[in-house]
Amino acid sequence: MGITVVDKIMVVGGGGREHAIIKKLKESPQAGKIYCLPGNAGIAKDAECVAISAEDLDGVVDFAVREKIDFAVVAPDDPLVMGLVDLLEEKGIPCFGPNKRAAIIEGSKAFSKDLMKKYDIPTAQFETFTDMGDALEYVKTCRIPVVVKADGLAKGKGVLICETRDAAEAAVLEMMQDQVFGKSGSTVVIEEFLEGPEVSVLSFTDGNTVIPMVSSMDHKRAFDGDKGLNTGGMGTIAPNPYYTEDIASECMETIFLPTMRAMNKEGRTFKGCLYFGLMLTTEGPKVIEYNCRFGDPEAQVVLPLLEGDLLDIMMHTADGTLSSAKFHFAEDEAACCVIMATKGYPEHYEKGYPLSIPDDLENVYVAGAKLGENGELLSDGGRVLGVTARGKNLPEAIDSAYAQVARIEFPDGFYRHDIGQKALAAWKGETR
Ligand code: AMP
Ligand code: GLY
Repeated sequence: MGITVVDKIMVVGGGGREHAIIKKLKESPQAGKIYCLPGNAGIAKDAECVAISAEDLDGVVDFAVREKIDFAVVAPDDPLVMGLVDLLEEKGIPCFGPNKRAAIIEGSKAFSKDLMKKYDIPTAQFETFTDMGDALEYVKTCRIPVVVKADGLAKGKGVLICETRDAAEAAVLEMMQDQVFGKSGSTVVIEEFLEGPEVSVLSFTDGNTVIPMVSSMDHKRAFDGDKGLNTGGMGTIAPNPYYTEDIASECMETIFLPTMRAMNKEGRTFKGCLYFGLMLTTEGPKVIEYNCRFGDPEAQVVLPLLEGDLLDIMMHTADGTLSSAKFHFAEDEAACCVIMATKGYPEHYEKGYPLSIPDDLENVYVAGAKLGENGELLSDGGRVLGVTARGKNLPEAIDSAYAQVARIEFPDGFYRHDIGQKALAAWKGETR
C-alpha cells in the first residue's frame, strides 16, 4: 500500500512543546508541509511560521481555509478551551485536540472535580465556592495546609498551597475580591492537601481507547532544591521511576478508563491528548489535575521516546480509530529536558538577550526566541529553550542533557542544576 501524503499540516501554538511536536511530525513519511501559528524564530528552522496568534481564532480559521490545511494540531490550552477545534471542524478540517465541550476538563476545575466525584475517580476532597463569604467561612475551620484553586485557566499560576489559615484567607481574597486571575477566580475550589510523588501521564484517547504515553516528572519550582516560585516547568524526565507497572495498571482501572467513559457519558467525548497529573499518595494514586493537551515541558521528553509515527497516531485519534495505530515508547531508555529561562523568570524579565546554539545539538526545543536585526537569535520570553537528551538510562540522559546545556551560550539565562535528581534517587533504589 502506498503512503498517503498529508500535504498541509498546521500546528497552532509557539513554544517548546509545539517545537517538539513539529520535530516528531516531520519524521513521518506522510508529512507534507508544516505551518506553525505563530511559532517562533527557533521553530522557523523546522516549519513555516505564520504570525497569527493562537488565540486569534478567526485569524487561524481564515488561514486554514485559505491555505486548504489538511490536518490541524491545536496544542495550547487557551484556544482549545475557547473552541478552536469546533470552528476548524465546522470548516471540514480534521483536528487533533478536544472540542470545547471536552476541553472543559481543563478549562474548569469545578467541572473536573464534580466529574471525579460523580464517577468515583480518586482525587483530593474538595468544596467549590462561588460566594466569597462562604469561602472565607470555610477556611476558618478547614484542615491546614489547604489548597486554593481558581476555577478557570490562569497560566499555571492559579493554585495556591496555603500553610496557614491567614494564607488561605488571603488566597481567597486575592482570587475572589481582587480578581488577580480575572474571571477565572470568580469560582474557587478549596481542596485537601495531598502528599506523595507527582507523576504526569499523557495519553492519547479517541473516546474508544485510551493509550497512556511514557510517564514523566515535571520540576515546577524556579530554583534548585524546589525553591522559588512555581513556573510553567523548569525541566522534565521520563520515564518517572515512581510510576511502577503495578501503579500503571491501577491507574488504568481507577482513573484513565473511568475518566474516558465519564466524559462519554456526559456527552463530552474527549479526542486528543488527555493529561493526567497524578499524586501517588499512601491511599493510592489520585488526580491532582487534568489538562486537555500535551504538557510543556513534558512533551519535550515524552515525544523523543516515541517509537512510531506521530502524524499517523494523531490522525487515528481524530477519526476515532486509535486502536489501529501501531506504536510504543522506549520505556527501557530515558530522556531529560532542562529548561533555560531568562534571569528574573517567572517574575519580571526583559527580552532580546543574545543566545547561541551549536548546530549539531539535535533536540533543542525553542520556546521563546526571535531574530535580531542582523539575523542573530535573541531571547523572546521567560522560558527560552528546552534542551533534551535521550539516553540508555536516566543517569545518561541527565548527563547528556547537561553536557548540551554547557555548550549553549545564553549569559542572561539560568537553569536548574538538579533536574532528575529526585528521580535518580528513586531509580537507584529500584535498580539496586
Ligand atoms: P496544578 O496547576 O493544578 O498542576 O497545580 C500546581 C501544583 O500544585 C501541582 O503540580 C502540585 O504540586 C500542587 N498541588 C495541586 N493540588 C494539590 C493538592 N491537592 N495537594 C498538594 N499539592 C497540590
Ligand atoms: N508542565 C505542566 C503543564 O504543562 O501543565
